[in-house]
Amino acid sequence: MQLSDVKLGSRRTHKNLADKRPVQVIAVTGGKGGTGKTNIAVNLSLALAANGYRTLLLDADLGMANVDVLLGLEAHSTLLDVLNGACQLEDIILDGTDNLLVIPAASGLRQLANLGINECAGLVRAFSDLKVPVDTLVIDTATGISEAVTSFCSAATEILVVVCNEPASLRDSAAQIKMLSSEYGVSRFRVLASMVKSAGEGNEVFKSIQDLTSSDHNIICSYAGFIPFDKHLRKAVSRHQAVVDVFPRSRASMALKNLARQVIAWPRPDLAGGQLEFFVERLIQNENINVEVLS
Ligand SMILES: Nc1ncnc2c1ncn2[C@@H]1O[C@H](COP(=O)(O)OP(=O)(O)OP(=O)(O)O)[C@@H](O)[C@H]1O
Ligand SMILES: [Mg+2]
Repeated sequence: MQLSDVKLGSRRTHKNLADKRPVQVIAVTGGKGGTGKTNIAVNLSLALAANGYRTLLLDADLGMANVDVLLGLEAHSTLLDVLNGACQLEDIILDGTDNLLVIPAASGLRQLANLGINECAGLVRAFSDLKVPVDTLVIDTATGISEAVTSFCSAATEILVVVCNEPASLRDSAAQIKMLSSEYGVSRFRVLASMVKSAGEGNEVFKSIQDLTSSDHNIICSYAGFIPFDKHLRKAVSRHQAVVDVFPRSRASMALKNLARQVIAWPRPDLAGGQLEFFVERLIQNENINVEVLS
């Protein structure tokens, strides 16, 4: 079965609440593993939800899932069951906190780790039919340049590239940005410095990424700030909890909440770009509304 054939169930449909406004879709990604992507995606989602934004968090590290573990949730069914036709996308959604829903992946499964281009496209399209009310979709991607990472990034409205101040992270993230630009025509990237010791080190990370990508004149990188190295975050992870929940006043939590405030201020999409996009029907519908208002 192909994900493009997936039909959505109705168990979780909230017809009265569902609206059709464009959805902000943020792919959290990076060229190197272990830079803090999952923690950033989870805590950003919680902070957005706490601000009243109905947030859907997709664990798109498909073969190495850990969003559910970090949130202390138990996933009975995952994207693999959807892929195999055992259940429908809407049926695997887990309730996080108020305003937060989670789509879990599975761990250690090669079948999910190596999804092909058609399966990724089918998954992206399946979101368009979701009836749950969503303002923001946050995607925790795997590391690197697999088909799933590039498909989900190029179908998002914002790409948040998480980079540490290490040569491998800088080099691999710059390579990921250049590849998304040259092969997928993506030009705008937001760079988030992770696990840095100071604001100055965060600025250095951003400057390095700008330098490493400057040969491609189509690329526009903007700085999304930094998340400091903070032992409270590690403590929270070992307790299977999110740092914004257990240590809300810690440096990492304050930075993550600040990131959420920035994200809220980012312009929302209003036009379909013509390529494969999450929630594209809502963009088209929005365009039609705008045309009607203008005419
Ligand atoms: N700001 C931080 N301060 C201290 N430790 C951190 C910070 N961010 C992440 N870590 C630690 O780094 C490790 C990796 O974090 P995380 O799983 O979020 O990274 P990732 O980029 O998603 O990794 P992967 O590429 O394996 O998916 C975790 O053990 C976490 O505790
Ligand atoms: Mg991760």
